Amino acid sequence: MKTDYTKLSEKEILNWLKENLTDERFSHCLGTAKCAKRLAKQFNQDENKAYIAGLLHDCAKCFETEKLVEIINEKLKVEPDEMMNYKTFHAPVSAYCANKDFGVCDDEILSAIRWHTLGKREMTDFEKIVFLADKIEPNTRDKDYSKKIKKVLREENGLNKALLICYKETIKSLVKRELKICPITIDIYNKLLTNK
Ligand SMILES: [Fe+2]
Ligand SMILES: [Fe+2]
Repeated sequence: MKTDYTKLSEKEILNWLKENLTDERFSHCLGTAKCAKRLAKQFNQDENKAYIAGLLHDCAKCFETEKLVEIINEKLKVEPDEMMNYKTFHAPVSAYCANKDFGVCDDEILSAIRWHTLGKREMTDFEKIVFLADKIEPNTRDKDYSKKIKKVLREENGLNKALLICYKETIKSLVKRELKICPITIDIYNKLLTNK
């Protein structure tokens, strides 16, 4: 890995992640990085940037919720959608840490990390790739689900088709668990339906 986008070497990044994540989460981050890199190649995006975004996307995932809330309140400006479910709190904080602790300044990497849980209304192909890599990486994600996504990724308009599958699943699962659905999730789903 070239380290033009961070102030740390790959070894230093891996050590930081090992210290701050569970073994399973660490394995998920490695899987996401490799998968993001492969997707970047497939969709003509910067492979090195995708690898770094994948590696760091969940860097704050294992922080205590109180710590996440503290960082959000003290350091960040977040949108109401980002605060609807505590499970998404780690995304803006991971972007914050990517910048502060790893020296990442590239806006596209930081945005892909920040929006990897909710997605955002106008996602770039790069952001879509990181979002999808998080869902289909081979180390911790369901193999059949990944296979289904990979299949549509080879079709025309594959990125949007793959995203539509993800949003359908997310909405179904939120309804099943009686959890709130962010307006942003509904908007993205509606848009994907009209653009498939
Ligand atoms: Fe995450
Ligand atoms: Fe993740």
